[in-house]
Amino acid sequence: MSSRRPDVYDERLRAARDYVQSRSKLEPRIALILGSGLGAFAETLTETTALSYDEIPHWPRSTVDGHAGQLVFGRHSNLPLAVMQGRAHLYEGYHSWEVVFPTRVLAMMGCGSLLVSNAAGAINADFAAGDLMLIRDHINLQGSNPCAGANLADLGQRFFDMTNAYDPGYRNLASGAASELGMVLREGIYAGMLGPSYETPAEIAMLRALGADAVGMSTVPEVIAANHAGMKVVGISCLTNMAAGILDQPLDHDEVMQTAERVRHHFISLIGALVDRIAVAEEWVAGESE
Ligand code: HPA
Repeated sequence: MSSRRPDVYDERLRAARDYVQSRSKLEPRIALILGSGLGAFAETLTETTALSYDEIPHWPRSTVDGHAGQLVFGRHSNLPLAVMQGRAHLYEGYHSWEVVFPTRVLAMMGCGSLLVSNAAGAINADFAAGDLMLIRDHINLQGSNPCAGANLADLGQRFFDMTNAYDPGYRNLASGAASELGMVLREGIYAGMLGPSYETPAEIAMLRALGADAVGMSTVPEVIAANHAGMKVVGISCLTNMAAGILDQPLDHDEVMQTAERVRHHFISLIGALVDRIAVAEEWVAGESE
């Protein structure tokens, strides 16, 4: 989708930020965007305030099953967090500048770090449904870029680097958190497709040839906008199924939801341990450094 972004967009960003800040006194420096079936981490927080996406001015609603559609402020190990349970997707008909509206609001609120998660299909045949994958890099095949249009100079520069779109330091922290928990954490390249159809087997063969290890329909716009705004990003894919054509069976959203549910505990522990490590590394809290 490439329709023009309205001129009042930055006013809308400020209106949403002001509303959100009027509803919670917490000042999180890290934001989390949790994808299909993965929002349960927010239920582990204390001192929570949940804002429905409907009530925040101009905030895009998510219409997909498995996305609660609320922004939750709360504490994890005393650390203030902003957690999005569910996101808007391009395939819902949103423009990319709408998809990244929340990411930009969170950046404007002072979140310099972003943890993104998603459900994805595994392309790499060494991976299995139920594995978690640390995103090393992505390939944008969604046909749009959320930073197209006049540059939002208050947020970032016109041209910006994507060499370390997924922060190498944060990736190390994620690997360390997984090994401490005794969990296998795969690592690979996420290919972002528009959806909402799952891919054909021929498209999966193409994506494999391009070097992708997993495929999904989200994340890429938010990660681009976050990099534009200077946020440090870390991304985890929950590999909910083998991609099309790998197994002799059709794909469906129920399988995606069931696998996400099955790995929920692992996912929650990994996210919690990763957030703890980021807080120590950023010196937001006192802790043992490695
Ligand atoms: N393809 C695209 N998106 C997905 C998949 C898939 O196989 N699984 C979960 N999200």
